[in-house]
Amino acid sequence: METIYADHAATTFPRPQQVVDAMVNYLCNIGCNPGRGGYGRSLDAARLVYEARTLLAEFFHVPQPEQIIFTPSVTYSLNLVLKGLLQPGDHVIVSSMEHNAVVRPLTRLATERNLQVEKLTCKPDGTLEPKQLKDALRTNTRLIVLTHASNVTGTLLPVYEIGEILAGSDIFYCLDTAQTAGTEEINFQDLNCDYLAFTGHKGLLGPPGIGGLCLSERAAACTLPLVEGGTGSRSEQVQQPELLPDKFESGTQNVPGIAGLTAGVKLVQETGLQKIKKHKAELTAAFLDGLAGIPGIKVYGTKDAGKTTATVSLNLEGVDNGDLSFMLEQGFGIMTRSGLHCAPWAHQTIGSFPEGTLRFSFGLSSTVPEIEEIISALQTIAAEIA
Ligand code: ALA
Repeated sequence: METIYADHAATTFPRPQQVVDAMVNYLCNIGCNPGRGGYGRSLDAARLVYEARTLLAEFFHVPQPEQIIFTPSVTYSLNLVLKGLLQPGDHVIVSSMEHNAVVRPLTRLATERNLQVEKLTCKPDGTLEPKQLKDALRTNTRLIVLTHASNVTGTLLPVYEIGEILAGSDIFYCLDTAQTAGTEEINFQDLNCDYLAFTGHKGLLGPPGIGGLCLSERAAACTLPLVEGGTGSRSEQVQQPELLPDKFESGTQNVPGIAGLTAGVKLVQETGLQKIKKHKAELTAAFLDGLAGIPGIKVYGTKDAGKTTATVSLNLEGVDNGDLSFMLEQGFGIMTRSGLHCAPWAHQTIGSFPEGTLRFSFGLSSTVPEIEEIISALQTIAAEIA
């Protein structure tokens, strides 16, 4: 049976050959530790990491490459922001579409550091009005954390409008781009952003285990590292260096991951964000259109393909979404994700808690014929259970 991968919101698959080749090239032809030796191969590894930092600074419109730090994941980056910045008594604003990567560390910190956490409730389609943020601001508001797009419904939040509201204030602004980097235009400076957390293994087409964080200068100065240790610099000092990116990058780096990520970002640049976004919007529109004709299907989130990523959550009346996911793979070779998608607040917002949804998410390699196959499979299942 042919298979169709419709879980790109979880990770991209298949990985482009360029990504695989770049990782193999590092492992076979360079292989050494960057910043830890003066010999050629170590310098080659350091150059590879510097090239990646420069590329990502250009990609996200960050002023200096040193303001990009590499981390194992977007979850790590978000933990770093929350645990490294927040002080007892701080007021923190988040949206009700946040992922557990934000919700769980914040829940712990709320108790441990006596934080005031305010959740902005999005509409049932996942959208947020910028005015909701204005009304929530207080004198002790320290941080706003927002997902650029929900991993459950794909709905985009008004992150540029919110950046305008916060411009010139001393409130820190953190954006989770797990679902949008590599599809949406993300301009760190236009966003007035302090922290931009990204992952390498979704829209940026890289491997798992590599992500990062872009920090404004003021954010870098106010944030403590999550991990301290060897940086290959200032080794005479027993304190963690303050210089960037070393302050936040201790221990041997995931250089094969960085090599793969570099190849993925280059591919995104060569393809063009506009073309990628258009392709994904066409797939989403075709999918939503096909779903509209199937009895018993309830689609969550916005139905406007221009206001969402290529992620669609649904339920089929009378069928558990886990069972439906199983039927799709067993009967039709279609891979999807079911359940709560690590985002219980989002399901409470859209009205699908606690049962969750079946999620379809499409990527650069997805095609219209695949969408047609999925619609046909859902029609068959819906007819069988009717
Ligand atoms: N956060 C990823 C997802 O939504 C893993 O599936």
